Formats: sequence, C-alpha cells, structure tokens
Amino acid sequence: MERLTTAETVHEEGSWLFTIRDRHGEKEEVILVPCEDSAEENSSSGQSGADDSVEAWINRCTHEAQRFDTGQGVPMRDGQIICPRHGSLFDSCSGYCDNGEAADTTLPGVDITVHSDGTIFLTDDDATFAHEGGIDDDGGPDSTSHISL
Ligand code: FES
Repeated sequence: MERLTTAETVHEEGSWLFTIRDRHGEKEEVILVPCEDSAEENSSSGQSGADDSVEAWINRCTHEAQRFDTGQGVPMRDGQIICPRHGSLFDSCSGYCDNGEAADTTLPGVDITVHSDGTIFLTDDDATFAHEGGIDDDGGPDSTSHISL
C-alpha cells in the first residue's frame, strides 16, 4: 500500500497528480480531487458531507485523449472537473458527466483509501504507484518538459 499524500493537501492545493503503472505495466496519470458533496441539493445519500473526502480519477477525458491536469493543476468549478478542450464538466465525486461532448460518460476511477488521519493510500489491485506528478515528470530520455512544483 503506497502512501500518496493527505486529504488536507488535496483540498488546499485543489488537486494532486501522480502516475501509476496499470496491470500491463503501462503508465497512467491519476488525479486526486476534493469531493465536496453539497448538502443543499437532494442529499439523498447517507454521506455526511465530510469535507475531507477525495476521489481518484484517470487524468484523461472520456471524449478525446485530453488531460485535465496538464501540469497546472486540475481546472475545477463548483465541485466539477472542467475538460480544458471542449469544456465538459465532470462531477468530482461520481466522475459522471451529463453535458457537452463527453455527456453520459463516467471517468474511470482508481481505488484509494483515506485513513481517519487524512493520509491517502493507493489501494487499487490493478495499479502500482510509479511517482508523483505526470508521466513526463519522470525525466526519461524522451521527456521534453520538467515541471517542478
Ligand atoms: S476532450 Fe474533453 S470534452 Fe472533448
């Protein structure tokens, strides 16, 4: 089980990018985003709106191969992830999109566990932690950009 970061960090910074290897050994980028259930609207779920919840989604739009976080953090508004290419909005809690080009799709998720002290662990059987940041941040020979935060 790999320690990623803390829920506090995700909420403070708005998002947190890291890279995994999937079960085929392929690298994938994953974003951690705050999930803030609004208590106002139709709160039929039993969730108590704990404001430290975090969800993990593959860093790629379902419409085209567009990253959400291109190195500047995930663009978000009102608890929704904004696709930088065509502007579809994805719910940060469910990953679901009901609008625009990506309508009626759901982002593929990655299993994480948030401990009671806020520490976030990667707990997906199909994914192993590669490194923090995006794929290119590894500094391989093909890497053209080195983004340091
Ligand atoms: S690439 Fe995301 S909505 Fe088109």
